[in-house]
Amino acid sequence: MKLTHKDYSGSCPKAELLICFGVEGKKPSLPGDVALTKAALDDFKGEARQVRFSDATAGSVSRVALVGLGDAKSVDAEGLRRAAGVAASQAESSGAKSAVIYVDESIAKLADGAEAVGCAIAEGLVMGHYRYDLGKSKPEPLKLAKAQTLAAGSAFRQGVKRGTALAEANCFTRDLQNRAGNQLTPTALAAEARGLARRSDRITCKVLDEAAMKKLGMGLLLGVSAGSHEPAKLIHLVYKPKSKSKGKIALVGKGLTFDAGGISLKPSRGMEDMRFDMSGSAAVLGAFHALASIDVGFEVHGIVPSSENLPDGLATKPGDVHVGMNGTTVEVVNTDAEGRLILADALTYTVTKVKPDTIIDLATLTGAVVMALGHEISGMYATTDALRDALSAAGKAVSERVWPLPLLPEFLENMKGGPADLRNITTPEMGGGSIAGAAFLSHFVGETEWAHLDIAGTAWNQKARDYVGGKGGTGVGTRLLIQYLCHRD
Ligand code: BES
Ligand code: MN
Ligand code: ZN
Repeated sequence: MKLTHKDYSGSCPKAELLICFGVEGKKPSLPGDVALTKAALDDFKGEARQVRFSDATAGSVSRVALVGLGDAKSVDAEGLRRAAGVAASQAESSGAKSAVIYVDESIAKLADGAEAVGCAIAEGLVMGHYRYDLGKSKPEPLKLAKAQTLAAGSAFRQGVKRGTALAEANCFTRDLQNRAGNQLTPTALAAEARGLARRSDRITCKVLDEAAMKKLGMGLLLGVSAGSHEPAKLIHLVYKPKSKSKGKIALVGKGLTFDAGGISLKPSRGMEDMRFDMSGSAAVLGAFHALASIDVGFEVHGIVPSSENLPDGLATKPGDVHVGMNGTTVEVVNTDAEGRLILADALTYTVTKVKPDTIIDLATLTGAVVMALGHEISGMYATTDALRDALSAAGKAVSERVWPLPLLPEFLENMKGGPADLRNITTPEMGGGSIAGAAFLSHFVGETEWAHLDIAGTAWNQKARDYVGGKGGTGVGTRLLIQYLCHRD
């Protein structure tokens, strides 16, 4: 669906379907020249996500869908995204090929005002109309090809532009996530990253191959990849701001394009979901998709270690010892705790080559975080209160919530004392599997301000949200990162 915007000047452009929003206890207002039957207007109560279709009795459109937002006082960005998401999917099922979405001034004043309302509605429309069809030989095209928001004022227009960029980035992230493991290999992921650099003169991309990683001493990353015939890649994207940079921020994403567990093989039930083990990397690439059209004041680095984790004659065996880029030796007790290994070398690379002010990593790191927090909220570990609070606020604003969990030195201590400097897992009586993963990573960030988001529960199959969720990737992380980058000073 192509979403455009038109400034409202009293009348409605031609379209097969007109969508209008309304709140409880108030007649929805329609563009000047459109009229509806009294029955339709009486039926429509404005309850959240209520949809009432009817024929127009006058004006340039024949069909109208009234969409409810609920109580005007409690409408927020999330309510708008959800209502717009419902509108997009109902418009699609109605068979309409074009739609106009009218937002009158009283609706544009809700939540945080016109720009925020325009942004949320565009996000809901575009994200709500997403469908994954890259796996089909003959995908059935979506019917709704064109949508146009219709509202007054430049703030609303700006909001639509921003919301569209965020939503398209989210859909890009979801497309990466949903691709099959054999279709999205580390090589294919690197090609996607190069494609992002081609979209913008402010973005560049460099890809390190296995020879380059070997030179840098990335034994932990290469140890994970040893059992795979697909070569590992380390992707390094850089975004340079228009004006003088306010600092350097690094986004690091776990890019396991398939995690079978390695020699510590996972059970076969549900193993196909481990194609989503690159969701952290997809979130980072998605953020660069958005950075092609949303300006931020920082130099942003995206670092993605990408590999497969497979059992094979050359695969790392439990008990093998590998040496990381920072010299740390690690006994790989469980080859299924591989995310922390590839991230360890990516974090060392980030700290030593990029030297950022702040690192944020995103990773589908542990099944344990799903036990602890479920599918609604990601686990967050942060070394400073400022970063923790900023990410919490960003998560709330975009409805990709994060919840603070502790960085505990005891867990890192527990990983010491084996034949190498560290084991890659804690002993079973420690429990706290997600905390253990974070503690391991903490060894590789030095003094740099850092946050780790364990997105194993939120990256796919999250509870449906009208505009995102359900089966498949959610694109979690991308909008959160942009929100964070835009609000940091
Ligand atoms: N990719 C998995 C984590 C995961 C599991 C994500 C289920 C989403 C759903 C990760 O590489 C892994 O296998 N972690 C192990 C760690 C353990 C061996 C210490 C886990 O969580 O079981
Ligand atoms: Mn694993
Ligand atoms: Zn994994």
